Amino acid sequence: MNFDQHIAKVPAFPKPGITFYDISPILEDPAVARQAVNTLSELAARYQPDVIIGLDARGFLFSLPVALALDIGTIMVRKAGKLPGQVIERSYALEYGEATLAIQTERDLHGKRVVIIDDLLATGGTVSAAQALIEQVGATVVASLFVVELTGLNGRARLSGDVHALQQYE
Ligand code: PRP
Ligand code: MG
Repeated sequence: MNFDQHIAKVPAFPKPGITFYDISPILEDPAVARQAVNTLSELAARYQPDVIIGLDARGFLFSLPVALALDIGTIMVRKAGKLPGQVIERSYALEYGEATLAIQTERDLHGKRVVIIDDLLATGGTVSAAQALIEQVGATVVASLFVVELTGLNGRARLSGDVHALQQYE
């Protein structure tokens, strides 16, 4: 399926010169959302993961349904300050400043095969920080799956494991 007509391109958001690729129309149409989840699930199943890891926040919209389709669990990587208990954190650069991701150390990840899911791959800063956290707790990222990839930023070059996106834009 071509998802292009269900991805809104919003010019000058969040600031001038940036186009925002908005997955909201996919979510609004159950047939399209189901097709996106099914395609991501088929891709994930190829890697026989032990667990799906979803990235805060929009990745969660896809990570749980995919995990349920594969009958495996899902674990959240969240923005810093959101997860209780003991966590490990990793900071990554934004265009201006930085952000931090966290994962709970009590989650069972040691030795596991992980597929990461997020809505969008741009610079790859978010996913590469998540990958570093996942590897730090002894798991292996076998693939990272996205709804949208902005290929011009070459984020995939920063990632280990295979990379797939349902829709690519230059
Ligand atoms: C967005 C998007 C991806 C990330 C991609 O998340 O959902 O997670 O940026 O950019 P990158 O490849 O350059 O790191 P953002 O943190 O803006 O917000 P969210 O919490 O709504 O997902
Ligand atoms: Mg995000």
